[in-house]
Amino acid sequence: MANDREKGDWKDSVWNPRTREFLGRTASSWGLILLFYLVFYIFLAGLFSLTMYVMLQTLDDHKPTWQDRLSTPGMVIRPHAHETFEIVYNIQNTESWDMYAQALDKFLSPYNDSIQAQKNHECTPDQYFQQEDSGDVKNNPKRSCQFNRTILDVCSGMQDRYYGYQEGKPCIIIKLNRVIGMLPGKNGQAPFVTCGAKKYKVGKDQWREDTEKIGELVYYPPNGTFNLMYYPYYGKKAQVNYSQPLVAVKFLNITQNEDVNIECKIHANNIPAGTERDKFAGKVSFKLRINTNN
Ligand SMILES: *[C@@H]1O[C@H](CO)[C@@H](O)[C@H](O)[C@H]1NC(C)=O
Ligand SMILES: *[C@@H]1O[C@H](CO)[C@@H](O)[C@H](O)[C@H]1NC(C)=O
Ligand SMILES: *[C@@H]1O[C@H](CO)[C@@H](O)[C@H](O)[C@H]1NC(C)=O
Ligand SMILES: *[C@@H]1O[C@H](CO)[C@@H](O)[C@H](O)[C@H]1NC(C)=O
Ligand SMILES: *[C@@H]1O[C@H](CO)[C@@H](O)[C@H](O)[C@H]1NC(C)=O
Repeated sequence: MANDREKGDWKDSVWNPRTREFLGRTASSWGLILLFYLVFYIFLAGLFSLTMYVMLQTLDDHKPTWQDRLSTPGMVIRPHAHETFEIVYNIQNTESWDMYAQALDKFLSPYNDSIQAQKNHECTPDQYFQQEDSGDVKNNPKRSCQFNRTILDVCSGMQDRYYGYQEGKPCIIIKLNRVIGMLPGKNGQAPFVTCGAKKYKVGKDQWREDTEKIGELVYYPPNGTFNLMYYPYYGKKAQVNYSQPLVAVKFLNITQNEDVNIECKIHANNIPAGTERDKFAGKVSFKLRINTNN
């Protein structure tokens, strides 16, 4: 008997025909609850959309609202093999350096004079190429300056297809990472790159550098400068055809069959190199080892 009644109670708690309650609530009660949640969620969705809309209004499509490290760009070298900054090859073993030449070919291909002439503008050298917006009227797309591959001279791969690797006088190409709005250099003096021996640790409190092994260097363009006309950079969307300027350094008499640790730096008097906060800012280091059987 008791069992029957319990069953009845349980059934009633789902649907009670006497009070016409479903799960303990009448239809109008359920209706009110549904209505409440409906209104509540519509309100939340509305609030979310409104916030999103206001946020997006404050963003500019063409430049980031927030940008870190404005004054300290990193530098990279080409070729870079195997994700490391290490260039090791043997002069007599063509296969060991051919990949470097190929990597440079590929990297420099967009700098072909014909392509630069087609995409970019011949700018006035030695001054910033400023193309500001006038108020809300965007001056887009912005033009970019030509950086002709032939500026790199013997490091352009045009006359010397193997960039000197085949004769132990390799070219390394350096570029500065893009920083939107950066105006490097001061008082009309262009930033320039120099390379030298890198100090490295050999045991506790002992440092060494390979100064005497580096030999003579030559830079292209002359003095290793990044011309001012390539700055400022306005961002990928505003300046679609931008070509980053490059500096090539050629090692004319580097010691063979030994590791040589090299560091290249940017000098721009307003780009602090290697600050405490970021010791890779404004410089790049790599190891060069050229082996020969002779
Ligand atoms: C650039 O020039 C080199 C050498 O003349 C050529 O091999 C290469 O295909 C060119 N690249 C493009 C993208 O036209
Ligand atoms: C780049 O090369 C093209 C084609 O040879 C030439 O017309 C142009 O003047 C060169 N630009 C610069 C800045 O030297
Ligand atoms: C970018 O390059 C293309 C050709 O590749 C050219 O038609 C276009 O005008 C260039 N844009 C600007 C802003 O210079
Ligand atoms: C390179 O630097 C030297 C000394 O600072 C200067 O006299 C020379 O004009 C520079 N060359 C170029 C092409 O800028
Ligand atoms: C190349 O460097 C070596 C020392 O590493 C030196 O004896 C030699 O004179 C240099 N050659 C030239 C052409 O500078």
